[in-house]
Amino acid sequence: MSQLPRDVPASHYQSAAQRRLQRTRVDAPYRPGDPILRGLNLTKRFLMGTAPVYAVRQTTLEIKPGEFVLVVGPSGCGKTTLLNLLGGLDRPTFGEVVLEGQPYSKLDENGLARLRRNKVGFVFQFFNLLTDLTAEENVMLPMQLVGLSPAKTRARAAELLAAVGMAERAAHSPFELSGGEQQRIAVARALANSPTVVLADEPTGNLDRKSGTEIIGLFRRLNREFHQTFVVVSHDLSFTEHADRVVHMEDGQIVKVEAKTA
Ligand SMILES: Nc1ncnc2c1ncn2[C@@H]1O[C@H](COP(=O)(O)OP(=O)(O)OP(=O)(O)O)[C@@H](O)[C@H]1O
Ligand SMILES: [Mg+2]
Repeated sequence: MSQLPRDVPASHYQSAAQRRLQRTRVDAPYRPGDPILRGLNLTKRFLMGTAPVYAVRQTTLEIKPGEFVLVVGPSGCGKTTLLNLLGGLDRPTFGEVVLEGQPYSKLDENGLARLRRNKVGFVFQFFNLLTDLTAEENVMLPMQLVGLSPAKTRARAAELLAAVGMAERAAHSPFELSGGEQQRIAVARALANSPTVVLADEPTGNLDRKSGTEIIGLFRRLNREFHQTFVVVSHDLSFTEHADRVVHMEDGQIVKVEAKTA
C-alpha cells in the first residue's frame, strides 16, 4: 500500500461536501477542471416489505476528469447502489448527482436515458452483450441509437475494436468468444459514444485472474491514452495499485479514501 500513502478520513470528506452542497448551486455551469461527476450527499433507501434498508447513506463522491477511481468494500456495503446512482440507472432518495454541470434531478426519465446513452459508458460483470448480434454490431449499437451516420459508426467501431485488441474478432458472435474477449467487446461498446465517464461494476467478477488482470490493464491503458475517466467497483484488492484513488465503503458509507500522491 506504499503507493497510496494519504488516508483521508471519511468524516472530513463527507462534512466538507455536505457544506458545499448546502452553499453551492448544483446547476452552476461546468468549468474545465471541476469534478466531472459529483455524487452529493447521496442516500438510497429501499423498502424490504415495510422495513427501510439504507443501501447508501449520506455519501459524497466527486470524480475528477481523467481520474481512475476504484470502489471497494464487502458484499452488500452499497457499491452497486452507489454506481447505479452515479450512472443515473437509479434515483437517490436524498442528494444529487451532477455530470458535467447537469444535475440529474432536473431531468425526466427520457432526459436521464439520453444522458446515459450519450455520456455514460457501462461495463457489467456478465458482459450483457446481445447474443444475436456480432461483436462489431454490439459496438455499433450505441452509436446507431444516437443517430451517428452508418459510415462513421462503422469506422468508429473498427477503431474501438482495434483499441481493445479485438479487430480480428469483429464478425464473431458472443457465443464464439471467451469471457475475457466478451468483456473487451463490452468495453469497446461502453466507449462508443465517447462517454464522459465509464462506470464498471465488478467487470472482472466473472473472469479468471489472468483475463481479469488484462481487463483492468486495458482500463488503465484507455485511461492514460485517452484521458478516459473510470469508476470501477471491485472486490479484488490487487487492483488498488492501478487506481489514482481507492474508495472504501462499509455499510452504505465511504469509510476511507486513499489517494495516490502525484
Ligand atoms: N432493489 C433493492 N431492494 C431492496 N434492497 C436492496 C435493493 N438493492 C440493494 N439492496 C440492499 O442494499 C444493500 C447494498 O446492496 P448493493 O447491491 O449496493 O451492495 P454491493 O456492495 O454491490 O454488494 P456485492 O459486492 O455483493 O455486489 C444490500 O443490503 C442490499 O440487500
Ligand atoms: Mg454489487
